[in-house]
Order: sequence, then C-alpha cells, then structure tokens
Amino acid sequence: MARHEDLPVPIYTSLEPIYGDGSSLAEAQLRFDNIKSKFIQVFGHPPDIYARSPGRVNLIGEHIDYEGYSVLPMAIRQDTIIAIRKKVDGDPEKILRIANVNDKYSMCTYPADPNQEIDLKNHRWGHYFICGYKGFHEYAMSKGLNVGPQIGLDIMIDGTVPTGSGLSSSAAFVCSSTIALMAAFGKNFPKKELAQLTCECERHIGTQSGGMDQAISVMAKAGFAELIDFNPIRATDVELPAGGSFVIAHSLAESQKAVTAATNYNNRVVECRLAAIVLGIKLGMKPQDAISGVKTLSDVEQLCVSFAGSLESSDPVVAVKEHLNVEPYTAEDIEKITAKSLQSIFSESQSSLDVIKAAKQYKLYQRACHVYSEAKRVYAFRDTVSSNLSDEEMLQKLGSLMDDSHHSCSVLYECSCPELEELVKVCKANGALGARLTGAGWGGCAVALVKESIVPQFILKLKEEFYQSRIDKGVVNQKELGLYVFASKPSSGSAILKL
Ligand code: GLA
Repeated sequence: MARHEDLPVPIYTSLEPIYGDGSSLAEAQLRFDNIKSKFIQVFGHPPDIYARSPGRVNLIGEHIDYEGYSVLPMAIRQDTIIAIRKKVDGDPEKILRIANVNDKYSMCTYPADPNQEIDLKNHRWGHYFICGYKGFHEYAMSKGLNVGPQIGLDIMIDGTVPTGSGLSSSAAFVCSSTIALMAAFGKNFPKKELAQLTCECERHIGTQSGGMDQAISVMAKAGFAELIDFNPIRATDVELPAGGSFVIAHSLAESQKAVTAATNYNNRVVECRLAAIVLGIKLGMKPQDAISGVKTLSDVEQLCVSFAGSLESSDPVVAVKEHLNVEPYTAEDIEKITAKSLQSIFSESQSSLDVIKAAKQYKLYQRACHVYSEAKRVYAFRDTVSSNLSDEEMLQKLGSLMDDSHHSCSVLYECSCPELEELVKVCKANGALGARLTGAGWGGCAVALVKESIVPQFILKLKEEFYQSRIDKGVVNQKELGLYVFASKPSSGSAILKL
C-alpha cells in the first residue's frame, strides 16, 4: 500500500469528508456559500475550484524541525479556504487579483510573473499567496511540467486560523494557495513533495522556518496527531489516549514571526548553526570542514554521542556540557574558534546577516541543550502513547513531558513571554496535566492537556482567571472569546474541492 505521504491531495465533491456531518459542516457550508457569492460579486464570475488547508497545534517538539528533528503536531479545524479562477487565454492584463472575504484585508494585486521578488520591506497580506505562486512555478519548472503561458488569476481567501497565534495561519495560507494553483492548472503533486515545496516557498517571506507547519497542514488525518520526520519527510499516525483533550488558549500577545525574525526566530536558527559548528570543531573537525559541512545540530549528534560514550552515556547533552560555555559567546569568542568571521560564514544568507547585525551575544550552550533534550521528548511522547500504560498513566506522563518542554522553551530557548508564562501557570493551577507554549512562541497560544471530563470547567476557569481582566481592559471582546480559547480534536489535512 502506498504510504500516506506519497499520495496526491484528495479531491472531494462535497464538504462532508472534511467537515463531518455536525455543526462544523453547517458552519463550513455557510463559509463556502459566502466565499462563492463574494467571488461573484467582486470578479463577476463563479470560481473554477476551491482548496483548503488547516492550521495546526504542535503538541511537542518545539524549535527542532529546522535542526532536522522529528516533531509531533496535529491539525486543528480552523483553516484557510481559497476560491480561484483562471482568466481566459488572451487575457491582456495578466494580473493576480487577491481578495479576502474579510474587509479588514483590502484587495492586493501582483503581476503574473512568477519570478517577481517579494517586497519584504513592504509587508502585505497577499505576499503569502505569492509565496505559493512562486513555489508552484518553481516546482513545476523543476519537474518540466507545462503550465502554459502566464495568465491572470482571480482569488478569494477566507481564513479562520487566528493570525499571530502560533497556530500556523501562514502555513494554512501558503499551502492552500499552492494547492489552489495546482488544482487550477490541472496538476496534483504527492503530499510529501508539496510539504517540501511549501516549506521552501514560505521562506520567501524572510523566516528560515523548518517544515513542520506545512507538513502537518498537507498530511494531517482526522483523529490522529502525526509524528513528522524530515529528510525525507514522513508522517506516522499517532493515536492519542482516550479521556484526554487538548485545549488551545491564546495569550493575546501577538507573535509576529516574520516581522521579528532577525531578533527572534532566525536568531535561534543562527545560534543553533553556530552551536553545531563549534561543537563539531571541539569534537575534532577541521574548522573549514565544520563551516562548510555542518548545518544543524543533528549533523553533529553522532560526534556528541560518541563523546558521551567515552563517559558511559549516550546523551549528546553530555558533550554540550563539556564543550560549550554556559556564558553567552560574543562574535569574537566564536570567531576565535572558527577562524573565520561570522559575516563570511553566513555570507550567502541575507536573513542570517540581519541576525548577526542585531545580535550582541550568542547562547550556544542553552540552545543546544534545548534542541537535544526536546528531540528526545518527542520520542518519549510517541513511545508513551504506544506503551502498555493505562490511559490515566499515559495522560499523566504526556502531561509531564509537555511541562518539561515548556520549561526548556522558556528557560533555555527563551521563546516565551510574560503573557504565555501567566497563561501556562493558570492552566496548571486549574487541573491541566501538562501545558506549554505552542508554535514559535514569543506570544501566541498555549496548549494544555486536560481530562476530557473537566474541559468545560477548565475553560470557564481560564476565562475567569486569565481573560476577564483583559476583557475589562478592552484587549479582547467577550463575544469573541470562543476564537481564542477552545478544545480541539485532530482534524484532516489539505484538500481540493470541486463543488
Ligand atoms: C514556526 C515554524 C516551524 C517551527 C515552529 C517552532 O511555527 O514555522 O517550522 O520551527 O515555529 O517549533
């Protein structure tokens, strides 16, 4: 039987296979009716075809995908829907018109040239569609696929994944854009190739993201979390124990991954690379070989494990403790070890050069300890789920792994923020078996593992103890609270819809 990731994106002629037959279906029907009528109103024609891709919540494995390590997310029901129509041949304008059902986002237009540069200094919401547009064309070209002459497109978007929430609204947008384009041009690619190409094309926006968000959005299966491996991309179903539920709660601090990349997200990617290079050199590599050959901490894991072996351990953290300094490094400290300037090490990546310009120091020890320990927790989580423990014991163990993950993100990786710390404490004080920040962090959501039987009380307590003061201050509207705190079951992945 073909593996899940080798299959193309499913094509449906009705909404049931995606949204089930309950209240989600009724809600989805309204959204599809709405996007269609707005499309006709704005563009004067109905769309040719639709695509959708969901957001995700990461259960464990934070900031390790770009280091080559497996992660364990699940898709949520919130998604991005796209309606698309190809202009007829001979269209003289050759323009992409990208509109949104939400008036907050005014229409963006772009030329149809897939080689256009994305203007990063001028951040516009439509840029995410252009990421998908470039990615689709780059992929088609690399495979020698004929997608015909450049042509204008009309596009309408409806996204329900809250932005800046750490729930991958950007991946939902980029994946649904790429899939809508694929469908409009009569193509369909295997899911693992789509996951790879959407990950690469989202980097046009300036963040050096790993591939987790796109992989789960494309490959998710209803009812399962997925263990996602990279190089090559693979998804393995993980069935969660009965009796537990994941509650997602927004800290109401917005996490703007693309805007803060130089000091936050990309900074950590650079720190990990430097930690890996320094470890490689300390463990016997020639500096020039480490600089050219070592990209991630997983590249030097074997060296670390061999070193740990000499001390009767198999834990790479033993090598980190021995060979990296707890005190932060300056650029000069690192350059003494690498015998090459940081500017020249990163000369090919403008976004890394932006990091170096902004950074005062580099916490190599802390970042490496987080990555190696978090990578282990992902497997411990997977092993717990498939163990012989009772559901009750399993839930306890999963909760404590989530707590450890949060502690590591907060203390070693420093990707939390005061609002997330407060929220995680409130979750724990009200019966969460485990609670942690999810996604890139620096704002956005926390995810809490809660016994199913207490979910309603738990959410009520969060409202009282975390959200009420913010409602009083006008940070959030009482009526919209359901968008910011909710329980979620694992939902299905990307789809094409011919309705
Ligand atoms: C963002 C990135 C992912 C991943 C997470 C942190 O969501 O897009 O690739 O690195 O942050 O785990």
